[in-house]
Amino acid sequence: MWTRCWSRPLTLVVTYLTLAAASAVAAATARAQDSLRVASPDGRNEVSVQLRDGRLYYAIRRDGRAVLLPSGLGFQFRGAPPLRDGLRVVGAAEKTVDESWTQPWGEVARVRDQHKELRVSVAEAAAPGRRFAVVFRVFDDGVGFRYELADSGGFRDFEVTDELTEFALADNARAWWIASNRPRLDRSEQLYSSSPVSTLDSVQTPLTMEMPDGTRVVIHEANLVDYPRMFLAGPRMEGRTLRAALAPWADGVKVRGRTPFVTPWRTIQLADRAEQLAPSLLGLKLNPPSVIADTRWIRPMKYVGIWWGMHLNTMTWASGPKHGATTANTRKYIDFAAANGFGGVLVEGWNIGWDGNWIENKNAFSFTRAYPDYDLAGLAAYAQSKRVELIAHNETSGGIENYERQLDSAFALYQRLGINAIKSGYVADTVGGGHSHYGQFAVRHHRKVMETAARYGIMVNAHEPIHDTGERRTFPNMMSREGARGQEYNAWSNDGGNPPEHETILFFTRLLAGPMDFTPGIFDVTLTRASGTARPPEAPRVRTTLAKQLALYVVLYSPLQMAADLPESYGGQPAFQFIRDVAVDWDTTRVLEGRIGDYVVVARRERNGGSWYVGAITDEEGRTFDLPLSFLPKGRRYVAEIYADGPGAHWLRNPLPVAISKRAVDATSRLRLVLAPGGGQAIRIRPAR
Ligand code: NOJ
Ligand code: CA
Repeated sequence: MWTRCWSRPLTLVVTYLTLAAASAVAAATARAQDSLRVASPDGRNEVSVQLRDGRLYYAIRRDGRAVLLPSGLGFQFRGAPPLRDGLRVVGAAEKTVDESWTQPWGEVARVRDQHKELRVSVAEAAAPGRRFAVVFRVFDDGVGFRYELADSGGFRDFEVTDELTEFALADNARAWWIASNRPRLDRSEQLYSSSPVSTLDSVQTPLTMEMPDGTRVVIHEANLVDYPRMFLAGPRMEGRTLRAALAPWADGVKVRGRTPFVTPWRTIQLADRAEQLAPSLLGLKLNPPSVIADTRWIRPMKYVGIWWGMHLNTMTWASGPKHGATTANTRKYIDFAAANGFGGVLVEGWNIGWDGNWIENKNAFSFTRAYPDYDLAGLAAYAQSKRVELIAHNETSGGIENYERQLDSAFALYQRLGINAIKSGYVADTVGGGHSHYGQFAVRHHRKVMETAARYGIMVNAHEPIHDTGERRTFPNMMSREGARGQEYNAWSNDGGNPPEHETILFFTRLLAGPMDFTPGIFDVTLTRASGTARPPEAPRVRTTLAKQLALYVVLYSPLQMAADLPESYGGQPAFQFIRDVAVDWDTTRVLEGRIGDYVVVARRERNGGSWYVGAITDEEGRTFDLPLSFLPKGRRYVAEIYADGPGAHWLRNPLPVAISKRAVDATSRLRLVLAPGGGQAIRIRPAR
């Protein structure tokens, strides 16, 4: 099922120009000491590379205006001098690439990778004469660069203590950020703050920024393999330079490696307007093509799960009278999924290990043995008979060794039972023997899970993950991740839940990295089912209108999209029809309106179908949009099925009213979308019959 196949691009134009050839060498090298330049295909983005006093710097300009000022490059090692000083350029090569491919699934079907590459090779002028190259790829939507460390000058095994990459912002951009250095908050489940770059301390990527001239700049990384995750250390009140900060091993070392060695790409996405930031495809272009030859078994789907009950405390993961994962309860969920056309049923708490303090008992989890009241094989067969699949939950509590020991036997069992998806979990401050949740040790683990899952025909949905760096291009079974504050916080967080602006920020930050399993669709917004009465305004509860919950299916992209509420919450709810209908795989994505932290309006056309879906969400302010439907093909007739905030709707005072209506539309129509405070609107635009 999993074979190595470097799929051949459909169109490929590569021009290779080796400057370091024959007589060109001397001239190029002399020029290189001043500045080497490479521009994007549209000529707007330009990278320049130069040596100053023996150190290598890069800078980025857009339309001739500086985005990044000369920013340093290099490494610090344990037991060896830094690789940064006394450098000379020994070669430079350029390349032009234009290729396109079709994704097996995604927020768009086709991706075009059109870029210019500049490879700058440098060496230490004095002994030991170590060599490395920095490869820049410049696209119309941004820049990626990575290091290639050569086996040279006795430079073989190394331990990096710091990567010296800098991002010297040319102006005091405004950033939307979450911290990376707070104890117990090392995970990404935080509310976003917004402040000038000059005040940042230590933040996570993707870091989305808006320059005073309006240019949007997003720093992130791509193709994170055998290397720690990158954070950004800020200038802390002085200057505007961000520095790469790598997550450590338990002993403080950041990277253990051996030359030849390539690092992940550092990416700088660039756009004129917020709406142009998504879909963000830069990271995919910087990952290798799929290694899975036949991807037909990989299917985006909607799913339900024995899950929300645990967060509401009406069920438990642990065994006992409130155990959620019982055979009878699971059959109910399977029936519900089958009746509504959903592909999967997630069951949490099915496996031995949840009793006692499961966050501390990380080595107690079995990934093959079920609790006695849960008939794993029988339920898997029952699910299949109803054309539904079980999704196996694998919470590790950070016990990576315990999980890895069982990986093959667990995935072989799931494959035998026809279970082709897992949801993994890493609720822990550190993993393994005290290593960072995000360090090289954890990155290796996550890669191993992706590879092993691919071999057994299993799709992965990782919670408390390492952030997405575009792995899904290479491993299309790497479907979705959490990696941000999701819906679960609305059940129990001590700050009352996610504020109404939260998802309007997520769209322009976390979601730029890749799909998110946010788990939308809570209809019991006031969480009345948990205790029989509506929760008071200050208690944790969902801080959106019901219509906004529908809109999130379109706005927050995920190929695995949960109908997150208890099945009984959907009974007698006409608005549930939207969740039944909405697609999870897209041909086209267009962001029609957007302002970070305020609102987003997205239109997406379903893959292999003629319908479009529109999702509009707002923060705590009510808003009206006058939407031209000019994205529809001309001359075709459609019916718009509209799920709007009903009269008087308000996220806190009156979240439930939904007004459902139908209208004939075509490409010349305009729709007036009225969103309540904290509200939203979801629209299905289907071809008229
Ligand atoms: C955190 C996840 O986000 C949540 O979905 C899951 O139920 C718990 N961990 C338990 O694994
Ligand atoms: Ca706002």
